[in-house]
Amino acid sequence: MKIVSATDMVNKAHEGHYAIPAFNTNNLEWTQCILKAVQETRTPVMIQTSEGAAKYMGGYKMVVDMVNDLIESMGITVPVALHLDHGTYEGAKACIEVGYSSVMFDGSHYSIEENIAKSKEIIALAHAVECEVGGIGGSEDGVTSNGELADPAECKAVADLGVDFLAAGIGNIHGKYPADWAGLNFERLGEIKEAIGGKPMVLHGGSGIPFEQTSKAVSLGVSKININTELQLVFADATRKYIEAGKDLAGKGYDPRKLLKPGCDAIVAKAKELCEAFGAAGKA
Ligand code: 13P
Repeated sequence: MKIVSATDMVNKAHEGHYAIPAFNTNNLEWTQCILKAVQETRTPVMIQTSEGAAKYMGGYKMVVDMVNDLIESMGITVPVALHLDHGTYEGAKACIEVGYSSVMFDGSHYSIEENIAKSKEIIALAHAVECEVGGIGGSEDGVTSNGELADPAECKAVADLGVDFLAAGIGNIHGKYPADWAGLNFERLGEIKEAIGGKPMVLHGGSGIPFEQTSKAVSLGVSKININTELQLVFADATRKYIEAGKDLAGKGYDPRKLLKPGCDAIVAKAKELCEAFGAAGKA
């Protein structure tokens, strides 16, 4: 099986009251670890790249080929979609052309009128489109937003264009959550759910949100949860411990296949935990 459409899996998650984990990938090892975790837990998954991460890996086509080749060589049987995260107008078009199965067009920094006009064009081109209303707080891949609560009427205007799933700011933040974070705003999430008439929603900044809150968000219509930072943190932590213990200096401990292994094992373990927590494990 090759990369599949995200629409079916997100719609099924929406009906079944669980959320598809959407893991950002950064390189070959990351992609292998995510695929291992979802295969072992029977989880349908979205693998996503930012434009910067795709550039780092050699370009959009390289990412499409890498994911398709790994699906085949690793014998992956669970559904895998490939998604562009926080795409620009040009990036979304380029990804659709080379075989990403869904794209996010992030026009949240434009005026709502311009966001709507550009979202409309992307929706006409793609099979599965995510659009964003209201900035997600924090910084990702050099794009920073203070975070704002999305306006339900604006969410409705964008949802009505025919987006497949909608990302809306509800107090969520990319990166680490500060100790004094107020939590997700469920009142606003409920209002958005009402306004958009039951379309699946996406929760960005999924790293570090307590599971009671992600579960409540899922019960209010969130069907895709984005995770990037959390896998980066467990990878960095395990790699630091390996080096601090001097293991890279013992024997051939400097061989990247050994040096990266603890970090990779940590990614697999964390990804599995999240698949379970979002209720998606066993759904493939
Ligand atoms: P985190 O890095 O906070 O997990 O956010 C990921 C994300 O929302 C990608 O769009």
